[in-house]
Amino acid sequence: MASSNGDALPAPADPSAATAASADGTPGAGPPPSAAPADPSVVVTPWEVSGIVDYSKLIQQFGSTELTPALVARLERVTGRPAHHFLRRGIYFSHRDLDKMLDLYEAGQKFYLYTGRGPSSVSLHLGHLTPFMFTKYLQDAFDAVVVIQLTNDEKFLFSKETKRPLEEFTRLGRENAKDIIACGFNPEKTFIFMDTDYIGSLYPNVLRIQRAVTYNQVKGIFGFTDSDNIGKHGFPAVQAAPCLSSSFPVLFGGRPDVPCVVPCAIDQDPYFRMTRDVTPKLGARKPALLHSKFFPALQGDNTKMSASDPSSAIYLDDTAKMVKKKVNKHAFSGGGATVEAHREHGGNVEVDIPYRYLTFFLDDDVELDRIRAEYAAGRMLTGEIKAALIGVLTPLVEGHQARRAAVTEEVIDRFMAVRPMEL
Ligand code: TRP
Repeated sequence: MASSNGDALPAPADPSAATAASADGTPGAGPPPSAAPADPSVVVTPWEVSGIVDYSKLIQQFGSTELTPALVARLERVTGRPAHHFLRRGIYFSHRDLDKMLDLYEAGQKFYLYTGRGPSSVSLHLGHLTPFMFTKYLQDAFDAVVVIQLTNDEKFLFSKETKRPLEEFTRLGRENAKDIIACGFNPEKTFIFMDTDYIGSLYPNVLRIQRAVTYNQVKGIFGFTDSDNIGKHGFPAVQAAPCLSSSFPVLFGGRPDVPCVVPCAIDQDPYFRMTRDVTPKLGARKPALLHSKFFPALQGDNTKMSASDPSSAIYLDDTAKMVKKKVNKHAFSGGGATVEAHREHGGNVEVDIPYRYLTFFLDDDVELDRIRAEYAAGRMLTGEIKAALIGVLTPLVEGHQARRAAVTEEVIDRFMAVRPMEL
């Protein structure tokens, strides 16, 4: 299983210290006392995701709320357009205060969207792409301003390669900005910022947050130990600060009260539990959250997508030939061991990576349902479902590459310019 950023940063020295369970009891920022006990074989932290994740248990442990079909239906009514298939299929499965944000929106109050990326590889892979695809949908559906944080500072502080220069993470961040822009964000309403460049504007709120969170709390929430560098202990305030609209004085004309909605993978929740705990103390509004499940590695659950093993993930700069080869050679199959066994018992769509990837990238519900039924009944073979996936991924990757090639340095600069925005 890969974490949302897919690049498996080193776990804290004591990873168990950062599991959902140990956040329990942390004054203020932990889940409610009713939280279910955590399964010790499952680790979900911003730095490590392993084990078979039970998402309903995670909702209980983290104290978030299930994103129900009724709430998705309400979102459709409010936006007047069909919900993204990530919502229809429960890939975004949990939230905090989304209902309140819809109330505000209906009452005429616009919110902004905040998401981010820790730059750790030159090219994004399919898993990295999904939060940006989703944020782009939300931008269109709500006509919302989007702010995107590139945490070159985070990757510098947390990389286990302690000799890697800061400039390298900055360069990767700029490369990643091309992939992000290629997702089709509205240039009028999207601000992308590199932490080391924009930190001056964030700093007043970083300080306010840092004064409101104790060393014990940050250790309890994130599992940092006494031998972790001091930058790690301070960093969570940097990821929290963009949840306050006053961190963007030029964008929002000094308004301190613009509501913020954060779409992210569930492993990022500790940052925002901390944020939601401190914002009331600062007289600011709590951000709302939308949580996604994890994107599975090619080799299936419990395996990692890692930048050092290119066969573990499909990258957005892979050629059509590589996409085909990776799917055919490396995608974990839930099909029968032989054609005869498959015809008799059918394929297991719960674990079959080609099927699961189709749930992420094939928008057509009717076609997806047909494939599921045919494959599960054994009428469709593994080679055929793999061919169906290749048929979906090839135009997706090639289209992305063409859009990315059109992103010049000037285009990046335009997205990164500090400028007033209309909500
Ligand atoms: N920490 C995230 C990562 O490693 C990057 C990030 C920064 C982020 N701000 C965010 C992710 C807000 C989601 C939402 O990839």
